[in-house]
Amino acid sequence: MAKVTTKYVCQQCGYETASWMGKCPNCQAWGSLVETVVSPKIEEKARFGRDARAKPMRLSQVPPEKLERIKTGISELDRVLGGGLVPGAVILLAGDPGIGKSTLLLQVMENLGGLYISAEESVGQIKLRAQRLGEKNDKALFLTETNVENISLAIEELSNLKTVVIDSIQTLYTEDLTGTPGSVGQVRECARKLLNLAKSGKITMFFVGHVTKEGAIAGPMVLEHLVDTVLFMEGERYQTLRILRGFKNRFGPTDEVGLFKMEEGGLKEVVDPKELFTSGVKNAAGSAAVVAMEGTRPILAEVQSLVVPTKLPYPRRIGRGIDYNRLLVLLAVVEKLLRLPLSGFDIYTNVVGGIKISEPAADLGVCLSIVSSFKNKPLPEKTVAIGELGLLGEIRRVGNLEKRIKEAKKLGFTNILSPENFSSLPQLAAVVF
Ligand code: TYD
Ligand code: MG
Repeated sequence: MAKVTTKYVCQQCGYETASWMGKCPNCQAWGSLVETVVSPKIEEKARFGRDARAKPMRLSQVPPEKLERIKTGISELDRVLGGGLVPGAVILLAGDPGIGKSTLLLQVMENLGGLYISAEESVGQIKLRAQRLGEKNDKALFLTETNVENISLAIEELSNLKTVVIDSIQTLYTEDLTGTPGSVGQVRECARKLLNLAKSGKITMFFVGHVTKEGAIAGPMVLEHLVDTVLFMEGERYQTLRILRGFKNRFGPTDEVGLFKMEEGGLKEVVDPKELFTSGVKNAAGSAAVVAMEGTRPILAEVQSLVVPTKLPYPRRIGRGIDYNRLLVLLAVVEKLLRLPLSGFDIYTNVVGGIKISEPAADLGVCLSIVSSFKNKPLPEKTVAIGELGLLGEIRRVGNLEKRIKEAKKLGFTNILSPENFSSLPQLAAVVF
């Protein structure tokens, strides 16, 4: 292979130089020079699959594009992707280490077949994981390789390949650059090479990407712009819930989420979220049901609070699954408007099942669970609370109110506390407690 030339380009100002420098002489930024291959023209052509100049046209002249979708066999993943995989699409699956990215993609490959490139684990390790997943159909091929040129050859040699998994993109390297694997230049160049293969061969590719401590996909966001779809896998390490979110999707919506449970046999789809996000304890003081939205999906969840006399000069406030500052504001509203001496009590609030509710629609439920624990009086049976609370105690409407109420009714809740039937917290509390 012909040796390519490289240059170092400042990521801040675009300054170019032939050799590496710690500081950009143009904009004075430190560590901003990234090694880049000099041959952009040919690559762009391959990427967009056109050689002549394109002509401007009216939308009516554009032939309708019908997206073919391949089902992955995992309906929660298909939902996030917008109905399935699009041939030639490149999907970045990002998430913390150990969250379950490799497990999910292994499950996809067992359904679809294809080539799984592991740049982190040996095929033996993958086999161990596959054994935990149970039933085998042996459709997929596995390869341990970190050199992107060798990977490209392997992909080209296998004709009729539809799906490729790269686990992970940060551990690959190209011979064209001298930087270490995981550096911005290497990640970008490797991704671009594979992207060209995906587009020209209509191969759907999954890139696994690690998230750095700052929450960015390593190789400071370079991958996000290159790929068609960015999915994030989230969850608490010691809880079973895993949420798959779409952040960018050229072929579908971005507001969908997929819910999974990590179990002994791998990731299981959560078909009925209710069992995961509610404790099942009936008639307990301190518990309130709320309806949260995850994407376009209403999800019934349970807020639990424990209010106990404090022994400390500063009472404790601990909130898990809800925003801490929001909790403090709600406590102030409850204290003032319901005249409860909360400053003499420690307050612990928790959302069941590891889900995070950051939307104001849960305000009412959080307040009611706290008041219920304080008064040691459970809420009436089959009660759900939906509404945002203002600083004056007014109950405000929230987005998707009808959808939430419909979901609550579907699940058998008959007593629905919402801005439709109550206008303020004191008014509501007088009726409920
Ligand atoms: P993994 O897919 O290796 O994570 P990632 O690729 O995102 O780093 O998942 C590893 C975790 O999942 C590990 O802690 C073990 C757990 N696990 C299960 O609980 N059940 C299973 O069936 C499998 C395969 C893994
Ligand atoms: Mg992994």
